[in-house]
Parts: sequence; structure tokens; C-alpha cells
Amino acid sequence: AYLGIDLGTSGLRALLVGDDGTPVGSTERHYDVAHPHSGWSEQDPADWIAALDAAMDELRASHPEFAALKGIGVAGHMHGATLLDASGDVLRPCILWNDTRSHAQAAKLDGTDQVRALSGNIVFPGFTAPKLEWVRENEPEVFAKVAKVLLPAAYLNFYLTGEYVADMSDSAGTSWLDVGAREWSDHLLDVSHMRRDQMPRLVEGSEAAGTLRSDLAAKWGLAGPVIVAGGAGDNAAAACGIGAMAEGQGFVSLGTSGVLLSARGGYHPAPDTALHTFCHAVPDRWYQMGVMLSATDSLNWLSRITAAKPAELTATLGDDPKAPGRVRFLPYLSGERTPHNDAEIRGAFTGLAAETTRDDLTRAVLEGVAFGLRDSFEALKATDAQLDGLIAIGGGTASRYWLKLIASVLDVPLHLPKGSEFGAALGAARLGIAAVTGANPDQIMAQPEIRETVAPVADLRAACDDGYARFRAAYPAIRSVQ
Ligand code: XUL
Repeated sequence: AYLGIDLGTSGLRALLVGDDGTPVGSTERHYDVAHPHSGWSEQDPADWIAALDAAMDELRASHPEFAALKGIGVAGHMHGATLLDASGDVLRPCILWNDTRSHAQAAKLDGTDQVRALSGNIVFPGFTAPKLEWVRENEPEVFAKVAKVLLPAAYLNFYLTGEYVADMSDSAGTSWLDVGAREWSDHLLDVSHMRRDQMPRLVEGSEAAGTLRSDLAAKWGLAGPVIVAGGAGDNAAAACGIGAMAEGQGFVSLGTSGVLLSARGGYHPAPDTALHTFCHAVPDRWYQMGVMLSATDSLNWLSRITAAKPAELTATLGDDPKAPGRVRFLPYLSGERTPHNDAEIRGAFTGLAAETTRDDLTRAVLEGVAFGLRDSFEALKATDAQLDGLIAIGGGTASRYWLKLIASVLDVPLHLPKGSEFGAALGAARLGIAAVTGANPDQIMAQPEIRETVAPVADLRAACDDGYARFRAAYPAIRSVQ
């Protein structure tokens, strides 16, 4: 059996799979995020360990397969800075991916010579390097003691193996990695006052990172040696879980935020479009993704202010999308990442008339999110990504209207997978299988069975293009009055 661990922002999920990768059982433990000041977001790594220990106790008691564990893979929320002293003790709470305290340090690093070119990305405030600059400036006594900086998944690797080792996909989100060369960059480390000896050893996500510590193996009742894989950042792991590994394979995730991810056989950075370009969790592959911050969150907002459930809002539209109308919605309720990298922008409705109805607003919200996804889609296409179809996942896929609309706005078919287990935990377990068996990752990271494909509606094409052009024009106009 193999174990996939998804160290998420709100909790840790552990998934046990059989030797063939079929899910056997899972469990989840929750923990909190602390917000001691506005814009701060922190977690105590001890809470992750407590969650892991509790999850292991449960899986061990409920599934006899656990005793035959051969390999473990860890996926984690990306970019977080876990600071350790020379004896491996945690120096301060982990500063998380959604913590924005270091926006000034990020802007400065982002404007530094060669930083975008080497890291392949904008330095976002959530990334790791600006966090360390913040610590250097604001907590110099802590900074002076930093012997190692580990991302959350690498911290779990350290707990499991006793070794400082991190995978490429997660390390790509630090702004310290030369993402094309897949190695730490001395220049990137220098400009953010860090040293190579403070970095963990790098491995590919599908390679072995180490062996489970013998005291943990004994505590969990495990006899044989258990290999711990390099693991992955959560998005790369999700791509492994859904089989987005090679050129042409990608997915759109309609969750709170919207993600459009495409696997890449080569390195094609495009930082100016605010696309993320990161190493994949297997050798010689990368992936690119556009992130929109408010996808189902936009519909949830409309649901709150109209006191109608999201499913009720979409149900009254029926299943067949209409051509985008005059009412337009800009989905920037929490700012936007791709393509604007604009934390200050906020949303808008335009084109309201005396006869505008709730349905018109719902349609506009669904269209605004679809257009926002098209922004990421166009940015990906401009890097020559081949996107002939996308697997669609996430809560928003419950609406037929929305699925058909998004397929039409992007002009690609959307494939709906069977079952529900294809997330980061499955991807992490698959990395464990690859690390132990050495099998070709492409075979292990297979795509799920597709239960249905939603095709673009040809008649809507011209109206969708026209609506998208107006959506593009609305951003600078709205920006100028906010
Ligand atoms: C990726 C990112 C998030 C975190 C949260 O750049 O910030 O997806 O990994 O889980």
C-alpha cells in the first residue's frame, strides 16, 4: 500500500491506496490559520505533525493494508516559510502562501535585475523569498538563527525522514530556484540575502527523498523500509492526481478560486502575463497555470446578497447558455492574479438597466468568471501551450449552464471525470508509487475515466468573442475610477 498526504491550508488529508493506486481509505484532520495582524496568515508546524499523527493512528486502526505500507508522498500548500535553527527546531510560526505582509519586499525583489528571468515568475507577496526579507528587516534575531528554510511539504519530509530535502515543483515557488535549470540560483539567493546551505537538498517529486525514520515506523507498526518520495506542491500534485503530465493535458478547476493548468514538456516562462511557471513533480516537465482569485466565490457572493442558494441562482437559468448580454460583471472581488497581478482592483457590474433581473446578474457573474478564465487561457495559448480539451473539476461544475458557457468562451471541450478521488492526495500517493517502483510516471499518473464531455456551443462563438473583447476593455476603464 501507499500513502498520499495532502497538507492543506485548513487541514491534512491522508489517502491510503493499494499497490495499483486504487484508493482504499482516507481521513482528514483540521487545524487553524492564525491572523495575528491584518494581512498576516500563519500556522504552527506542530499542528501539522499532530494532525499527521492522529490521521496515521486512525488509518492504522481502520485499514489492515496500512501495515504493508511501502511508500509515502507528501503534497503541501505552497510558498510557506518554515524557519529552522541549527538543531532543526522551528523558530517562528510558518508564514503562509496567502500572507501579504511582505508586499513591499516582493515588489523590490520583483524589480531586481534577472529575478523574473531566472525564477520564471513575478515575485508575488505570497512567495517565500520576500517573506525572508521581511523577517530579516523585522525580526533580525530570528533571521540570524535561520539554518534551514523548508516549505510545508518539505517540513513533513523532514519529520518523516530526518533529512532536509525538497522537491522541484514546490521549490519553484520560492523565487530562489532557477526554474528552467531546476537548481537553486546563487543570484536569486544573493539578492534576497540567503545562502545555499540554508536550502534543502533538491530531488524530483517522483524520486526517493529518504526512508521513514525507524522510530516512526515502529510507532506506526510498520515492518519493512518505507520510502518517502520528494512529493510536490499541491497544484503539481493535483496535476499528478488527474493525469495532467504531458503537453496538451490540462485542467480547469472551478473552486473558490479558479485555476487553469497546463502540463508542459518544456520551459516557456511568461511572467509578464502573471502566469505561474513551475517545475512539474516529474523530471523534465513543467506546468503553467493561471489563477483567478474569485471563481465560485463570485457566485457565492451573489448568493449571499440575493439570499438565494448558488444552485437556485443557476437552476433558474436552465441548462442552455444564452449569448452574453449587456450586463457585465468583473470578478475581482479579492483583486486578481492572472493576468493583472492587481491586488487593489475590485469588481463591478456594468450595463445595469431598469429592467435588469436577478437572472441577468447571475448570467453576468457566470460570464465574468468564464471571461476571467479565458484571460488565463489566452496567456497560456500565447506560450504555445496546446489546449485541445480540459478536464473540469471543482464545485462549479455542478452547473450545466456554466460548463457549456465556459466551453463556449474558451472554445474547447470540457471533460468531466468519473468518481471523486483525483486530487492532490492521490497525486502524492502516486509519487510514492513512482519513487518505490521506479515505473514510468506517465503510466502511474493516468487520467481518470471520463463520464461526459461538454462541447462548446457553436452558435455562441461570435457573441462570446464579442463579450470577451468588452470584458477586456472594461478592466482599464474600471481601474481608472477606483
Ligand atoms: C499557488 C498557491 C496556492 C497554494 C494554496 O501558487 O499559492 O495554490 O498552493 O494551496
